[in-house]
Amino acid sequence: MAQEDLLKKIIAHSKEYGFIFQSSEIYDGLSAVYDYGQYGAELKNNIKKYWWDSMVRLHENIVGIDSAIFMHPTVWKASGHVGAFNDPLIDNKDSKKRYRADVLIEEHLAKIEAKIDKEIEKAVEKFGASFDEPQFRATNQRVIANQEKIDVIKKRFVAALEADNLVEIKNIIEDCEIVCPISGSKNWTDVRQFNLMFETKLGSVTDEANIIYLRPETAQGIFVNYLNVQKSGRMKIPFGIAQIGKAFRNEIVARQFIFRMREFEQMEMQFFVRPGEELKWFELWKATRLKWHNGLGFDPKKYRFHNHDKLAHYANAAVDIEFEFPMGFKELEGIHSRTDFDLSQHQKFSGKKMQYFDPELNENYVPFVIETSIGLDRMFLSILSNAYDEETIKQEDGKTDQRIVLRIPPELAPVKLAILPLMKKDGLPEKATQILDELKYEVNCIYEEKDSIGKRYRRQDAIGTPYCITVDHETLENNTVTLRNRDTMEQERIPVEKVKQIVVEKTSMTNLLKKVN
Ligand code: GAP
Repeated sequence: MAQEDLLKKIIAHSKEYGFIFQSSEIYDGLSAVYDYGQYGAELKNNIKKYWWDSMVRLHENIVGIDSAIFMHPTVWKASGHVGAFNDPLIDNKDSKKRYRADVLIEEHLAKIEAKIDKEIEKAVEKFGASFDEPQFRATNQRVIANQEKIDVIKKRFVAALEADNLVEIKNIIEDCEIVCPISGSKNWTDVRQFNLMFETKLGSVTDEANIIYLRPETAQGIFVNYLNVQKSGRMKIPFGIAQIGKAFRNEIVARQFIFRMREFEQMEMQFFVRPGEELKWFELWKATRLKWHNGLGFDPKKYRFHNHDKLAHYANAAVDIEFEFPMGFKELEGIHSRTDFDLSQHQKFSGKKMQYFDPELNENYVPFVIETSIGLDRMFLSILSNAYDEETIKQEDGKTDQRIVLRIPPELAPVKLAILPLMKKDGLPEKATQILDELKYEVNCIYEEKDSIGKRYRRQDAIGTPYCITVDHETLENNTVTLRNRDTMEQERIPVEKVKQIVVEKTSMTNLLKKVN
């Protein structure tokens, strides 16, 4: 399936089966804002639990907090967001469409990279097992020429970003002959900076002093509480503070479904360490976070590290974990070594000491910080992209049938078990309800009696339910049910008493947590 088609299909499927709806849809929607439906909310909660438990429950030295979205406005001056949380924007004068200038250049670079990948793919086909990629890259003239193009553009681009040189960014767009995807023209405005923070007013007095911001990241809620948590929890360095919560950014271009939203959720963890030890911890958190992603059992080739081309002025190392979304490899999670920048800034702006007394060193210092930061919505999209499958099934009579199945890891599936009476009579619904009443305390179950059993199985496949049990006349005779497996579609007859054990065992979050511990 073409990857552009996959994103369209995921969007349509999410709506049809109650995962994600456009916000305020009856009023034609609100751009880049989405609501999670009945199954979306369950899946989201399960992802949060996987993250929270792996951070907070599995690490004795990490605790979790829940700070407010509104914060004192000086927080955002200290953090640098008021002055510098900008994206460079550019408009096309013909289509009147607005773009992020840096994204236009990055997409141009990705197109050249795709040409190199194509050459390599062709060569792999031609030479088979004897193919030597490094040698091919070093000798193939087309690859060399394209790689040179990339290197030249990247060098200019990074220098322009570092110097905040908006004129040069426009020059690069013109020199690369980048056209507007809508109008096809090169008729661009100048590049200008745009601050991404949403402003609102606190209280009833409408003067400047009351302007506050919707937080653009959850991390600052952790930094300003670092001393509260350290003292009240008697935490010793190294230790971490984790948080899950909403963040808001007035994104210039908010496309690609829940990949880039204006209201989204982050799962962030700040890990406080001794100065000088931060790069050791940075490497450790890189490995830990990749292991967490791989714990889900999807193709490991879909994840890769990408070092930042340009480091933020406060960072001394930064890497993204990229995932191969339907629109290509894109950032899923960031891991940053933020030095002591944030705590030192808050110390300066608040006048409160942010130092930690290290009893082993007998020394006071402002701790350094490693941050892991992942977008919950992007994680959700990565799971749907991995899980969505259109399968052709061969039937016993030789005919074929199609099914859409969401192969969500059972531990994260919104519904774990569907309980289906074969018919709506003969006491079968009553027996099925009795089973539901026993199991609903253990796992999220669903009861369905409408439509044929085949259609009901398909519906459960489409929302990713790993198990279905069917209650039939034999159930009334010998207290057994058929248990159907989503992935294999195999059915086995088992005693009702065994259902709980099997389903709980196969869908428990403990399975995932043991893999990543
Ligand atoms: N505290 C660091 C920080 O916020 P970031 O790279 O700006 O770093 C971290 O964001 C993560 O948040 C990203 O890797 C991404 O998963 C998610 N994210 C950022 N902007 C987003 C948006 N507009 N919509 C959805 N997720 C977003």
